[in-house]
Amino acid sequence: MISEAAIWHDLECGSYESDLSCWRDLAAEYGGPILDVGAGTGRVALMLAGEGYAVTALDLDASLLEALDERAPSAGITTTCCDARDFSLAERFNLIIVPMLTIQLFGGESGRAQFLSAAARHLAPGGCLSVAIADLLDDEHGAAGGETLDADVCTLNGASYSSRAVELKLRDERIGIERRREITTATGSVEQSTSTDWIDTVSADELEAEGAAAGLAIAPRRQIPPDDDYIGSAVICLHG
Ligand SMILES: C[S@@+](CC[C@H](N)C(=O)[O-])C[C@H]1O[C@@H](n2cnc3c(N)ncnc32)[C@H](O)[C@@H]1O
Repeated sequence: MISEAAIWHDLECGSYESDLSCWRDLAAEYGGPILDVGAGTGRVALMLAGEGYAVTALDLDASLLEALDERAPSAGITTTCCDARDFSLAERFNLIIVPMLTIQLFGGESGRAQFLSAAARHLAPGGCLSVAIADLLDDEHGAAGGETLDADVCTLNGASYSSRAVELKLRDERIGIERRREITTATGSVEQSTSTDWIDTVSADELEAEGAAAGLAIAPRRQIPPDDDYIGSAVICLHG
């Protein structure tokens, strides 16, 4: 049975599609095997595995990886539950991807440094580490998580789930996206809660400098365009 964490994850991240062509292009350029860092329930990993690449999906949250495993029993995806800041796998990867601002959840510069040195150790010769980042304060369209009019909604097993971004908060160089979540059960009872994701601020120049300090070479950046619901992002590319 799917966990509540996986239901919210699918609802809040699952509809994002603007970055898929960027990961597809990088996979075509560098080939597999591919490590998807912070893979969640497999939005990107499943797409890449569907195109024939061998994918390892890494995440800290076992319940999200369980949902991914259930969706992909024979898709050629290996899941590994560990912290991206401290992992050791036997395999080396031609492409390591970090979609959807996940690196901005690693606890600031020290967490990013730990991740970058772990990623550098796991790149095959000539391989590429590609990391999507964004500046949530540069949010012309209100897409990043300031108050949004529309809630994301889904229905599962008779219960209706709804999530809406209600506030963007700034604290200690981190930006909090507060979401109001609501579950309406089959009997009509309503359960409300709030959830806040704290996102570190980091610029493309800073991340490239941090990658160089971890021994990686800076390659040209790519861009993911904004859409109606999500802010655009820069994809930093670092070679092993
Ligand atoms: C914004 S979601 C992105 C999910 C997925 N990559 C996507 O693009 O749909 C961030 C993911 O990173 C995972 N995560 C956060 N911190 C992590 C860490 N230190 N190590 C591994 N995974 C982490 C979360 O559990 C979550 O699944």
